[in-house]
Amino acid sequence: MYSDIYSYLTITLHLYFINFMIIRRELDQYYTEESVTKYLINHLPEYLPNPLTFLEPCVGEQHISKVVRQMLKPCILDINDIDTTKAVSEKTSFFLDMTKEESWQFLGNYNLIITNPPFSEANKIVPLCFKYSDICCVLLRLTWLEPTKDRAEFLKMSNDYLHKLIVFNPRPSYTDDGKSDSVTTAWFVWDKRCKSKGTEIIFANDWKS
Ligand SMILES: C[S@@+](CC[C@H](N)C(=O)[O-])C[C@H]1O[C@@H](n2cnc3c(N)ncnc32)[C@H](O)[C@@H]1O
Repeated sequence: MYSDIYSYLTITLHLYFINFMIIRRELDQYYTEESVTKYLINHLPEYLPNPLTFLEPCVGEQHISKVVRQMLKPCILDINDIDTTKAVSEKTSFFLDMTKEESWQFLGNYNLIITNPPFSEANKIVPLCFKYSDICCVLLRLTWLEPTKDRAEFLKMSNDYLHKLIVFNPRPSYTDDGKSDSVTTAWFVWDKRCKSKGTEIIFANDWKS
């Protein structure tokens, strides 16, 4: 009988672990270090709207939105995550799928969006972030600049508003073990309030200090 209970517990634990890993990987639940967001906020375009409305559409464990609340004090700070176990402790919480335009129509426009979206859905989510904000800052692999079939049109259309690329060196880690991707990440900062006179590249070499 004890061996039955032991087998049952072992199998249950094993299934729980596999389930956790698959869901985590599917939704790309990897989080952004505070100093990566702080660096961005210290290099945001000048003259932010005041009062400021803000959305983090893929909030995860609020790593980005916490820093925004402390440093920018927006009058509206909305957070959303498709995973209903997230986004629980803010004033306003949504559980929408941000690959769908209906979700954005429901939420409306914001002055500022800052997010690190799931990489697998970035081609769908980034153009919508751009469409529904004045200023949108998205953490992406630097290779996102490559005009692949799914984003070539968007890159062309949004080029004139890509004011800054903030490139991280050393590469940030998004996992607990400190390992990083084979490609560095960068903040892509689009500001639709005026056309850019070319994209400024900022090399964030001192972002950890
Ligand atoms: C890479 S994590 C980043 C979390 C947070 N932005 C951060 O930087 O710490 C991506 C987050 O997007 C959420 N997500 C995945 N697909 C989504 C979708 N279609 N709509 C909204 N959120 C989504 C995941 O649950 C996960 O929390």
